[in-house]
Amino acid sequence: MKKQITINTLSETKKLGIKIGKYAIENSIITLSGDLGAGKTTLTKSIAKGLNIEKTVNSPTFTICKIYKGRLSLYHFDAYRLEGSNEDLGFEEMIDGDGVAVIEWPQFMGDIIPNERLNINIVINDNDSRNIEFIAIGLKYEELLEKILC
Ligand SMILES: Nc1ncnc2c1ncn2[C@@H]1O[C@H](COP(=O)(O)OP(=O)(O)OP(=O)(O)O)[C@@H](O)[C@H]1O
Ligand SMILES: [Mg+2]
Repeated sequence: MKKQITINTLSETKKLGIKIGKYAIENSIITLSGDLGAGKTTLTKSIAKGLNIEKTVNSPTFTICKIYKGRLSLYHFDAYRLEGSNEDLGFEEMIDGDGVAVIEWPQFMGDIIPNERLNINIVINDNDSRNIEFIAIGLKYEELLEKILC
């Protein structure tokens, strides 16, 4: 299932993230793609809020993955520095865990991410608005996407 929305302000991005966190389900995967500075970490911070995580979420660029406890655990990945290296760092177990895995730069994680997931692609427009493209693969992600967008 594919959907697209346009977002004009930072506060709309935050609202979207909170909604995603509120409806997120256990053992799920959300991948965030889009250029540098598109807003992937910004969205993740709000997803954390929606999951009732009180700690501030920071970009995990140097650690690849950070874990936060909330209504569900958040596994926040930023694979940018992996650059596609196929080293077994034990991420598969985390992705497959009972929390919510939010993965920035999923294209650098190699083939360990299951196809069934919600992918959110953020495209910055010339006027600084964002096109947010959602692709939900699998019934549970289609249901999640319906809730997020209603
Ligand atoms: N509508 C918007 N949604 C998200 N971010 C916005 C928006 N408008 C402006 N911004 C700004 O754009 C920047 C997005 O940075 P952010 O770190 O979230 O991007 P990123 O996609 O995670 O980048 P990177 O690829 O480096 O990890 C922030 O400074 C944020 O304040
Ligand atoms: Mg980021």
